[in-house]
Formats: sequence, C-alpha cells, structure tokens
Amino acid sequence: MTRGKFIAFEGGEGAGKSTQARLLAQALTERGIECVVTREPGGTPGAEAIRTLLLGTEGEGWHPRAEALLFAAARSDHVERLIGPALEAGKWVICDRFVDSSRAYQGGAGGLSDADVLDLHRVGSQGLLPDLTLLVEVRPGVAEARASARDQGSSDRIGGRDAAYHARVAAAFARIAEAEPGRFARIDGNNNSERVFGDVLGALQSRFGAF
Ligand code: TYD
Repeated sequence: MTRGKFIAFEGGEGAGKSTQARLLAQALTERGIECVVTREPGGTPGAEAIRTLLLGTEGEGWHPRAEALLFAAARSDHVERLIGPALEAGKWVICDRFVDSSRAYQGGAGGLSDADVLDLHRVGSQGLLPDLTLLVEVRPGVAEARASARDQGSSDRIGGRDAAYHARVAAAFARIAEAEPGRFARIDGNNNSERVFGDVLGALQSRFGAF
C-alpha cells in the first residue's frame, strides 16, 4: 500500500482555506483518490475538546506557552488517531491548518521561539510534516472583510486578537514559507475562489506531477 499524500492549508483568518480544502477534496475524489478532509485544532473527539478549551472566550485565557502545549496536545491526538492511520491506509489527507499555524501564531506572533514550537511537535507528533503546505495569503483588508462576514462579530479568542498580532502572524508565515520552498507553495488568495483553486491545482501538479 502506497502511503497517501499529506496536504495542509495555512494562512491567516479569512484567507479562504476551508473553501479551498473542500474544492480540493472534490477534485481528488473525482480523480478516484480517496481523501480525508480535517482541520486543526480538532479533527478527533479529543482534539475537538481541546479546541473548545483553546478558542472559547470564557475565563482569563492562556499564556502563549500553555496555548502552544494545548495545540501540540490536540495535534498529537489528531496525528495518532486520524492523520497517521489515514496516510498509512493510502488515503490523502487535506488538513485546514497544521504545525505551521503554531509556528506563526504561538511562535512569530505569541513570542515562543520556533525551536520550542518544533520541539513540542517532535515530542507530540514525531515531527510529522505535510508533503505540501499551501500558504494562502490575502491583503489585510480582504481578510478582515471575509472573517467578519463569516463570524458576524463573534470571533474566537485567537481570531479576535488585534491587527498587530495578525500582522505578525502573516509575517511569520511568509518567513517560514521562504525558508522551506520545497515544502511550501504560496497562493495568492485575493482572487475569487475559482482562480485561487486553479493555482492550488497548479501547485499540486508541480509538486506531485500528474495525479
Ligand atoms: P478557526 O476558526 O479554525 O480559524 P480559521 O477558520 O480562521 O482558520 O480557528 C482556529 C484558530 O486557532 C485561528 O485563530 C488560528 C488559531 N491557531 C493557532 O493559534 N495555533 C495553531 O496551531 C492552530 C492550528 C490554530
């Protein structure tokens, strides 16, 4: 059994990752490729329970280090119980956010070092990395308009942080992608979803050839 491919979408709030993940799953299914679409934080019952702890707006919130540990714990359960077994079974896994979100949010924007975030990932998830990470980038105005239309004024604890935090997230994503050009493809998410999806398919073809 050939191991499946692991594809992650990354980017800030309102970048259109979930739409692209859904379109990609449809396209793969049409080509006869079995795939699983999942998200972080979440994807398994345990990780969804941690998601509620992380994103709920009650209480005083988490220190960046506690936040990073909780994301790593959720990811560990997700990798152990869902992502790993699906890949082993030959399925392709499409994940809406993965470890690079922790590197950008808890690392670049939250102040943890990249080495610490990667250490947590090594312990929690044996350092598993996607075969391809699609970083969907949008201009701040576009992202805010989409996120507020979607959330209708009720953003979660992290989404609701100020513009400076989200600017640090975007800058960190860009730095991480530049440092690993073999794993990353940067996608211009400012266009309509059909055009963006064309670029997503183009990135898959250059990474994996015809599929
Ligand atoms: P979600 O509603 O899934 O975000 P979006 O639809 O914008 O992708 O909420 C996930 C939030 O958690 C989002 O603000 C990003 C944040 N996050 C981290 O801070 N670190 C992480 O490792 C992950 C996976 C997400």
